[in-house]
Amino acid sequence: MAKLNVNGQPHDIDAPRDMPVLWVLRDIIGLTGTKFGCGIAQCGACTVHLDGVAVRSCVLPIAAVGDRKITTIEAIGETPIGTRVQVAWRELDVVQCGYCQSGQVMQAASLLAQIPNPGDADIDAGMAGNICRCGTYQRIRAAVKQAAREA
Ligand code: FES
Ligand code: FES
Repeated sequence: MAKLNVNGQPHDIDAPRDMPVLWVLRDIIGLTGTKFGCGIAQCGACTVHLDGVAVRSCVLPIAAVGDRKITTIEAIGETPIGTRVQVAWRELDVVQCGYCQSGQVMQAASLLAQIPNPGDADIDAGMAGNICRCGTYQRIRAAVKQAAREA
C-alpha cells in the first residue's frame, strides 16, 4: 500500500510500487485530465507536478514519489501561476484538439515558477519536451508571455 498526496488529498493506493503514477491518476483515482501519449517520457502529455516541478508521470513509479505532493491539471488552477496560465490559454485560444494541452499547461506553470519572465529561448527550452501534433507552439509561446506579464 502506497500513500500518495494528490491535489491536497491523501490516497492509499493498493498497486505495485513500480506502477507509473499516470496509471494511478487515471485508472485508480479517476483523474483523467492527465493524458497518455507515448509512455516513454518523449511527448509531455502526462506532465504533472511533484512539489511544483514538472515531471513525466508515465515513467514515474509510485515508489519514487515519497512524501512529495502531486498536482495535476485538475488542481493547477488553484495556484496563482496556474490561474494566470489557464486564463492566458483561454484568451489566446491556444488549444486545437486539446490532447497535449494539459501537459502544456503543467509544463508552462512549472517554467514560470522557475523563470518568472522567460524570453523566447527560455520558453523554447522549457517547453521543448512537450509535443503538440496540432502545432500550437506559437500560441503557447505567446500565452506563456502573457501569463508572465500578468504576474
Ligand atoms: S506519455 Fe509521458 S511523456 Fe509521453
Ligand atoms: S492541441 Fe492537438 S496535439 Fe496539441
